[in-house]
Amino acid sequence: MNLKGRDFLKLLDYTPEEISYLIDRAAELKAQKKAGIAHRIHEGKNIALIFEKTSTRTRCAFEVAARDLGMGVTYLDPSGSQIGKKESIADTARVIGRMYDSIEYRGFGQKIVEELAKYASVPVWNGLTNEFHPTQILADFLTIREHFGKLKGINFVYMGDARYNMGNSLMVGCAKMGLNFTACAPAEYFPDQSLIDTCKAIAAETGASLTFETDPMKATKGADVIYTDVWVSMGEPVEVWEKRINDLGPYQVNKALMDNAGEQCVFMHCLPAFHDMKTTVGKEMGEKFGRDSMEVTDEVFESSRSIVFDEAENRMHTIKAVMAETL
Ligand code: CP
Ligand code: NVA
Repeated sequence: MNLKGRDFLKLLDYTPEEISYLIDRAAELKAQKKAGIAHRIHEGKNIALIFEKTSTRTRCAFEVAARDLGMGVTYLDPSGSQIGKKESIADTARVIGRMYDSIEYRGFGQKIVEELAKYASVPVWNGLTNEFHPTQILADFLTIREHFGKLKGINFVYMGDARYNMGNSLMVGCAKMGLNFTACAPAEYFPDQSLIDTCKAIAAETGASLTFETDPMKATKGADVIYTDVWVSMGEPVEVWEKRINDLGPYQVNKALMDNAGEQCVFMHCLPAFHDMKTTVGKEMGEKFGRDSMEVTDEVFESSRSIVFDEAENRMHTIKAVMAETL
């Protein structure tokens, strides 16, 4: 398998074999790291991380993984670059491409990261856009494989806003890798029909299934994984909270849903999560709307069925695999 020089912009650009290979490579690099075996295979290279939205996991994962591979890192924060404000994406890409061996970009529209990749002479990695979050899915799938020993045939249920980056990317990932994907939400929160059609065609080849369900109890019966994400994503206006809480409140992941799924079921979340009142936004919105949690109860989040921190750790190992293989 040779992925040298490839961008990593969305999973739709990768075959199931290539995705499998990246997950295998992540498992190998994880084992090496745990065993204290150095893997500075990109010694002397430098990468630029452009973040137009905030981050904890993705930034830390890229920085630690890059250092483990022997590389230097420059972080450009949401206010620290000229990109988009005083310099076009195309010009930025051509400048940074002259100095660095690769560019990670987190920001708004997918078309921005696609344009960056078009003009940069080096590989570009998508660290999250409004439409897709592909490195997250590699981490999620490594975690599922570690837990269940397989991906194919896993019953995967996504609760909540399924038409944004996480719902879209998980649907694509499940279709590619042969999982049974169910999105559960009010119908207006289902992914775009064109993306559903694309994924249905992929699923026909891989044996995956795609289901769209509005009833949480029906959706979660027999689920192996129940996954959710925040109801309001980065960059969305604060005014949408009220409608989201009203619409998605019945889709909160709670103990009744986990019990309905069965003993085998685990809880996953890309994080950050509003599972208590210990964050500024969680507290403000909780008090305003009379809730102690949003997309998941604290009980489920803190339970032994929650594998969210294994998942968060795996961001680093999987991002490292993407960098190791595409550089
Ligand atoms: N899951 C994820 O992308 O987290 P950050 O926003 O902290 O990077
Ligand atoms: N949907 C979330 C994902 C965060 C990792 C957001 O875009 O804010």
